[in-house]
Amino acid sequence: MVLPNINEAKKRTKNKVKFIYDEYNITSDMKIGTGKTYYIKTYGCQMNEHDTELLSAILEDMNFTKANNMENADLILLNTCAIRENAHNKVFGMLGRIKHLKETKKDIIVGLCGCMAQEESVALNIKNKYKWVDLVFGTHNIHKLPDLLIESQNKKHQEIEVYSIEGDIIENLPYKRANKYKAWVNIMYGCDKFCTYCIVPYTRGKQRSRKKEDILKEINDLIKDGVQEITLLGQNVNAYGKDLYDDYKMENLLEDVAKINIPRIRFVTSHPWDFTDNMIEVIAKYKNVMPFIHLPVQSGSNKILKLMGRRYTKEEYITLFNKIKEKIPNASITTDIIVGFPGETEEDFNETIELVNTCKFDLAYTFIYSPREGTPASKMEDKVSIEEKSHRLETLNELINKYAKKSNDKLLNKIVPVLIEGISEKNDNILTGYTDTNKLVNVVGDKDNIGKIIDVKITDVKTWSLDGEEYIKNKCHN
Ligand code: 5AD
Ligand code: SF4
Repeated sequence: MVLPNINEAKKRTKNKVKFIYDEYNITSDMKIGTGKTYYIKTYGCQMNEHDTELLSAILEDMNFTKANNMENADLILLNTCAIRENAHNKVFGMLGRIKHLKETKKDIIVGLCGCMAQEESVALNIKNKYKWVDLVFGTHNIHKLPDLLIESQNKKHQEIEVYSIEGDIIENLPYKRANKYKAWVNIMYGCDKFCTYCIVPYTRGKQRSRKKEDILKEINDLIKDGVQEITLLGQNVNAYGKDLYDDYKMENLLEDVAKINIPRIRFVTSHPWDFTDNMIEVIAKYKNVMPFIHLPVQSGSNKILKLMGRRYTKEEYITLFNKIKEKIPNASITTDIIVGFPGETEEDFNETIELVNTCKFDLAYTFIYSPREGTPASKMEDKVSIEEKSHRLETLNELINKYAKKSNDKLLNKIVPVLIEGISEKNDNILTGYTDTNKLVNVVGDKDNIGKIIDVKITDVKTWSLDGEEYIKNKCHN
């Protein structure tokens, strides 16, 4: 049994990261899934979604097949998120449901992984009060799933293996991509920014960049499989390379990726601190780098930004924002905002409102601050009542929605490129896809367009999505 420890997780060792190319190997005696099914419930961010693609591929390599619902599965994995309290509550609620299921189906195997598993208090809670959970593993040893699963089955005991110190970079891992036309590509793991509210540097470990040649190879292989859009993925992608190269940065990687013949490239998430002018130049220069930037601001108050350890001021953020808009006029810029951070006064909150009025974001993800055990902010004095925080969130959301609708309004009657991903879940006659600026569009058009980027004329505009019809040049459009 290996339990996590927050003091270890905080450490940033000088150990050189090793790149390992031949670690993953499923031998015939590891194929214990024949005739069995799996179900993975994923919580949280794109990094977790992508990890689920890895977990799925590993399980399928072990001969498990995907179950269409949890009730039918022989193996249930919860790939968890630790970023806010409500993510925690959802997982413990789900464990309650699974416990009932396990009472009627004794043989099902239950595992918990992802960021919550990295938290000492969660791992201990599972060890002491959820003894029926068969398997707990963290974010640093996902590729070890076959060994852990086999071990827990053979020994019929609870297997907990969560490392606090990150491991090496394991290459040549399999992924079962959820989308045929869009793919995530990890360019780095972990985060060294240690924003004072954030648990990620503890659950995902120190920043480790993948080698550029491994990233480029993965992308080239994806293109051969027909992928149209790739998203370069990391907690703080703009810091790419800092831990690995002297003179190769995110802007260089982005340019090298842009030179590959792939129609669409995106990247998430950017920290404003590392967003260089050269980055902006590269985005502006290459048509296949999408004019879409997710640039979390978190707060509009310099006092709060300082307490958050964000390393920029409101003025610096606005300068960067304006620079991007100037060089890439059609860029869609979205953000994340936290309300109710410890010490946030009405005045501080009003400064956030002011910033939103200045930037008029295309979209924003807004959250009430949630104290995370072990982070510096969780020890700060927090005098704001939950009612006040909820009220601030409501006020902010109203404003965010107003600007989201306004930014969509600008597209009415315009012709925009849309990557058609599939058929709408609500209506068989409607296709769905995303614009270059990452806006969801419901499209009336030919099903043959699935997997293609087509011109769409926007016919109606809502807050969260657009409606449109396939636009064919020289055809009579009434
Ligand atoms: N409480 C509330 N929101 C948080 N986020 C990160 N940590 C917390 C927390 N403790 C938000 C930030 C981040 C997004 C992914 O989640 O806005 O950008
Ligand atoms: Fe968390 Fe800050 Fe790192 Fe983002 S940059 S993952 S908010 S510590």
